[in-house]
Amino acid sequence: MTSQPMQASAEAQPNIALVKYWGKRDGALNLPAAGSLSITLDALHTRTSLRFDPALADDDIRLNGERDAAQTRKIGAFLDLFRARAGIATRARVESGNDFPTGAGLASSASGFAALAVAADHALGLGLEPRALSVLARRGSGSAARSIFGGFVAMAAGTRDDGEDAFATPLLDAAAWPLRVVVAITTRKKKAISSRDGMDHTRDTSPFYRDWVATADADLASARVAVQARDFEKLAHVSEGSCLAMHAVMLSARPGLIYWNAATLECIQCVRSLQAEGTGVFFTIDAGPQVKAVCLPEHAARAADALRNVAGVEDVLVSGLGAGARIIGTET
Ligand code: DP6
Repeated sequence: MTSQPMQASAEAQPNIALVKYWGKRDGALNLPAAGSLSITLDALHTRTSLRFDPALADDDIRLNGERDAAQTRKIGAFLDLFRARAGIATRARVESGNDFPTGAGLASSASGFAALAVAADHALGLGLEPRALSVLARRGSGSAARSIFGGFVAMAAGTRDDGEDAFATPLLDAAAWPLRVVVAITTRKKKAISSRDGMDHTRDTSPFYRDWVATADADLASARVAVQARDFEKLAHVSEGSCLAMHAVMLSARPGLIYWNAATLECIQCVRSLQAEGTGVFFTIDAGPQVKAVCLPEHAARAADALRNVAGVEDVLVSGLGAGARIIGTET
């Protein structure tokens, strides 16, 4: 047994993609078909405590206080990647909790696997670089590779078969362009179709899948330029375009994937009205019905008030941009 403490606690925040990831070039290594670009939030957190314990016969994993066989298998397989690097077979106890609704299009898998990667690295004393942590986090969830970093983050699709070049890189610090994100929650129910299943179904059945994947490079290039130049209008244009193109390819799968509800569309119209009156805001929506309105800091209160009054909006969260995944302690 090693002399490491074998335990650690880590915290990570979800990220919201502005140039979307929807499709894989390899399922086994979870390699994205195209790159993506995201912002890491600061107001929503996953906190994960992990302890490798020689007394355990099996991994014991609780997410938001509950054990689930499918999640235990998935997370156990993820921990195997770290156990293999450390040369141990020791089972682990994991407790992870979110302070926001899980599985409702708020990227809980992103913050969850990013926090777990950082905790496992620390607990086992592996001392991995952020880039290597991003590669490993990607194996748990593609979007998790981005939550290793804070602020504006770009994710490369990579070309290598082993996936070692498919990792995220920080583009710009949160403080350098402190945009705000208003999350309009239109339901707290878990989504019916996971991103993973939805992506496979889209690739297998949509006649537009190739065209969708082909849009990514140009969108990424424009979004990078917009971020570097702090050009909000340009970022709004490319982000809404990428979001709507992703939902278009989802809708064109057979049967079509419809992640929106009536309130989702009402929120889009609300953002359009705000834009028409000069508010610095744009929308983006992931594989769920919540609408994220990205705002210039001085316009966030206006957008939050307007979205709170949209029929069907249950709650509104306002977040700034935050830091990447980090250790918060070695106690469990
Ligand atoms: C719509 O990262 O959850 O939020 O890699 O299969 O775990 P897996 O998928 P996941 O997909 C995120 C999809 C998205 C867009 C995005 O975050 O880029």
